[in-house]
Amino acid sequence: MSAIPVQSSELTGLPAWKELEKHLQQMSSVHLRTLLEEPDRYNRLSRETDRFVLDFSRQRITGTTIDLLLRLARDRQLEQWIDALFTGAPVNNTESRPALHMALRSQSDDPVLVEGQDVMPLVRQERHRMLKFAAAVRSGAYTGHTGSNITDVVNIGIGGSDLGLVMVDAALSDFRSQDIRTHFVSNIDGTQLADVLQQVNPETTLFIICSKSFTTLETRLNAESAREWLLTHLSADAVGRHFVAISVNDSAMDTFGIDQDNRFMIWDWVGGRYSLWSSVGLVIAIGIGPDHFEALLAGAAELDEHFRETRFEDNLPVLLGLLGVWNRNFLGMTSHAVLPYDHRLSRFPAFLQQLAMESLGKGVTRGGKPVGYSTGTVIWGEAGSNAQHSFFQLLHQGTAQFSADFIAPVRASSEYADQHQQGLANMLAQAEAFALGQSAGEVDAHRVYPGNHPSSILLFERLDPRALGYLIALYEHRVFVQSVIWGINPFDQWGVELGKSMAVEMHRALMADGEIDGIAEKIKGWL
Ligand code: F6P
Repeated sequence: MSAIPVQSSELTGLPAWKELEKHLQQMSSVHLRTLLEEPDRYNRLSRETDRFVLDFSRQRITGTTIDLLLRLARDRQLEQWIDALFTGAPVNNTESRPALHMALRSQSDDPVLVEGQDVMPLVRQERHRMLKFAAAVRSGAYTGHTGSNITDVVNIGIGGSDLGLVMVDAALSDFRSQDIRTHFVSNIDGTQLADVLQQVNPETTLFIICSKSFTTLETRLNAESAREWLLTHLSADAVGRHFVAISVNDSAMDTFGIDQDNRFMIWDWVGGRYSLWSSVGLVIAIGIGPDHFEALLAGAAELDEHFRETRFEDNLPVLLGLLGVWNRNFLGMTSHAVLPYDHRLSRFPAFLQQLAMESLGKGVTRGGKPVGYSTGTVIWGEAGSNAQHSFFQLLHQGTAQFSADFIAPVRASSEYADQHQQGLANMLAQAEAFALGQSAGEVDAHRVYPGNHPSSILLFERLDPRALGYLIALYEHRVFVQSVIWGINPFDQWGVELGKSMAVEMHRALMADGEIDGIAEKIKGWL
């Protein structure tokens, strides 16, 4: 295991940072329109791997910007950090844990050590168990309590135990079994659960309680309501057959009544938002089948290798992460739009919101000092071309400062290939319009487009399990790169705890006698 590198110098005092500040003075007055006139710009500012193309020629950069950002990465010891991440060093320093989601998708025979123990035999064993279970549900070998085949699988979980699964399920819907429907219940208010329960039959429904902690309020409430519903239709001994769980919390699974054989392991060195590669992915594995699930893992592992082995100049997550730093800290972009031009990826922005914002939403360094510079941006987005008819007006002519990633497979994900080609043309046109705009000299003021909005395009051949695994891992590592530059821990999420504990008090006050005023008093009056 490599030690965690010590970042002794202040980020903003590093020579590369200072150089970037100087460089910004030259760059800030140069419009993308001018930059895009540079000969050979696409060839210089794009990269191709066996699977993906990254075109970052519409970023507000020159070759010098990239050189300086690469210097910054070296000064921040990014190489050593990558090594520390992959070799199981406790990179999640506030919780004294490694972050080893890469082990879950590893295709190699190499050991991965956590506190001197190789975790790979157990990881492989658990992957095998989970996939065997998925296959049994799909084939009908695993039935409901009354002997009927499972027709509906309901994943109950939230955050990292939901968003990635929903996203992959939608993205790979072409690969999903026709015989089993998948459903997702996450939110606290009960409407999602009610809607799903109306569609399913208790005898043929399998519930997956997906909760690393098994203490998350939303998941507990939804799981308990689902169990009550099941018990109004079937006898108590059906619970063990119709509920399975993925958690580290054995005693909570005992209390709920989860059968020993139907518990799947996860480890505390896997963060929730990085967990879809583990047994947390059971609902996906049942939906798309073990072979496609393995391909998803293999795609992510391919990107892991690229990240670990490729020199920074050609390294996609490194380049994307550094461009994020340039846009955030130097150009002052406060938000980043993610715009997939394939409706199957419509949940990708929501998945990325948790991945990036829970990871990079930090205001203190690893050592606990205020950072003194900007960190994570607001991530948001929507599938194109829907997005064009929603918020693009503000992007083109509003005053907001943003950067964007366009993402698309070249081949259509449906039989309507000509429509997908129209979508690709729209994507290219929007990227071009963001960059070039339309100047006042050409038209009246209401038709002026300031342009100069930086964006990248990520292209791959088709949306299949391998490409999707690669895409997700690409963004996971992009987040890691940014965290290293900013000197923050991307693997904890203390910021979500305060509201949770306040909600407990608030619920008590609403339901019983408690100090209450303002709008809370109004709610209580109406209850
Ligand atoms: O929202 C906070 C959080 O802890 C996420 O990080 C996590 O993905 C989610 O809650 C769900 O946690 P669990 O899987 O333990 O229910």
